[in-house]
Amino acid sequence: MNLEKTIRVFGAVVLCSGLIIGKSAAQGSSGVNGEQLYLSRCMSCHQVDGNGISGVFPPLNEIDWVTGDKGRLIRIVLDGAVGEYDIGGMIYTGAMPPWKNFMNDQEVAALLTYIRSAWDNDASRVTEDEVRLVREAGGDRNQAWTAEELADEANQGIPGSLGFLLTPRDSTKSN
Ligand code: HEC
Repeated sequence: MNLEKTIRVFGAVVLCSGLIIGKSAAQGSSGVNGEQLYLSRCMSCHQVDGNGISGVFPPLNEIDWVTGDKGRLIRIVLDGAVGEYDIGGMIYTGAMPPWKNFMNDQEVAALLTYIRSAWDNDASRVTEDEVRLVREAGGDRNQAWTAEELADEANQGIPGSLGFLLTPRDSTKSN
């Protein structure tokens, strides 16, 4: 038995399994961390506590736009928001950038699940399928949503009969 060779092979096996274990641990179970996405993409405007900056960047904490209808929320994050928005009793007239080219369905789902349950929020999760259905229905829309458009029922909820069955529309804050 060549001792030197045995040690070398053993070392290589230990090194490889270390790399594999280390990689899967860093990725987590789904490979996507909603809180991490929030901190890197949204926190600069909406702030770490989700309370925004009054009059400039609106809050996400205890706001019906976040904890209410999932369809509106997904549309805003995919395409952005523009125009006059009444948020938490204050009028905002800024612009929110679109994210659809920077996050896949799984990432948007993890991010929105995070903000719907972070801080004082306690709303149901958003699934990858729900994001996909809204994204597909949006086609090649290349325009931010106005609050007026989102008041139309056609632009709320999860499109497609299957999505509709799987996810009853959330119209209240509590779900
Ligand atoms: C550059 C600043 C900026 C960034 C970054 C940003 N937003 Fe916004 N967001 C805004 C502004 C401004 C509005 C209000 C738009 C308006 O007045 O037309 C808004 C509105 C919203 C709304 C609807 C109103 C509310 O307060 O609930 C949601 C939901 C939202 N943003 C979520 C997000 C998420 C999730 C991210 C990260 C992916 C994000 N935003 C990143 C600036 C930003």
